[in-house]
Amino acid sequence: GAAELGPYRHYMQKEIFEQPRVIGDTLEGVTGIMPELFGDGAYAVFKQIDRVLILACGTSYYSGLTAKYWIESVAKIPVNVEIASEYRYRDSVPHPNTLVVTISQSGETADTLAALKHARGLGMEHTLTICNVATSAMVRECKLSYITRAGVEVGVASTKAFTTQLAALFLLTLTLAQINGRLSEEEEAAHLKAMRHLPVAIAAVLALEPQIIAWADDFARKENALFLGRGMHYPIALEGALKLKEISYIHAEAYPAGELKHGPLALVTEEMPVVTIAPNDSLIEKLKSNMQEVRARGGQLYVFADVDSRITSGEGVHVIRLPEHYGLLSPILHVVSLQLLAYHSALARGTDVDKPRNLAKSVTVE
Ligand code: G6P
Repeated sequence: GAAELGPYRHYMQKEIFEQPRVIGDTLEGVTGIMPELFGDGAYAVFKQIDRVLILACGTSYYSGLTAKYWIESVAKIPVNVEIASEYRYRDSVPHPNTLVVTISQSGETADTLAALKHARGLGMEHTLTICNVATSAMVRECKLSYITRAGVEVGVASTKAFTTQLAALFLLTLTLAQINGRLSEEEEAAHLKAMRHLPVAIAAVLALEPQIIAWADDFARKENALFLGRGMHYPIALEGALKLKEISYIHAEAYPAGELKHGPLALVTEEMPVVTIAPNDSLIEKLKSNMQEVRARGGQLYVFADVDSRITSGEGVHVIRLPEHYGLLSPILHVVSLQLLAYHSALARGTDVDKPRNLAKSVTVE
């Protein structure tokens, strides 16, 4: 009811603003990297695996895609990420030394549960779930688990469940890296420090809300939008586009920025807002030339730039500055700004934000 919402207009907005706290909760008690955080016997399981298969649906699939970038780069273990409803029905090549990871807010999604059973049926017994509901079927069915502590998520469009999944998946990344001999004590300490600082860093992104509201008024008048990201921010572009579609009903598509010239550039006109995730990482110069490609066709750029990325606003280029580049954990910061953009665009259009048409919070039937 209204009392529960406090100063917020919708559960989605409240849940976006809860993220500093629930990420802190999810990482509470993590004083060092220890396999047993994932359950009894985790060390023995992690020792035996040499590849990872992630299975999920919807927003949870996008956290899995982000984790692929992390695990391959930090732990040097190959990762496949599959949409559960595809994986369960296709012929694939199983390997017994696979860590099968399901990701699910509810722990009850029918396709993800079926994909897990399918993987087991193919002889893959090492199973782990990243899940927000400790009593769910998913947790019962998997050998290992890490419970995110997002709390109850009411808004159909997932927000805090996603970022807590990312926090848990980063912890998994570090754990696999340590077991694989890829994590020095100095690196471990630096990563833990960055994780502990996440609540403060996210709060700084939430403070950008007034600037994002100003953009949302423009967005509310559009029928299409493109989202661009590169590297580990490509899945964040996908999630940003999904959020906008789900609650504002604006058609949105995400592309890895380097693919622009292979199709989506044909859609770019003055009428096309192009949301660009511009972290100050090794791809920033490439991204700037992608932005030029958009400007040359008259496209309107809406750029979320790290404060140190030296991208300036100008004709057709709108910039909101995030805090300084947050390294590997940067996707967790950038997605928060996209959640706010979707929320305020939907608000301006007057849609039913917490209960978008045709969608359900948990899809327990096929
Ligand atoms: C539904 C929800 C999404 C969610 C997806 C997967 O489509 O509306 O927000 O991402 O299911 O749900 P799960 O509970 O498995 O994460």
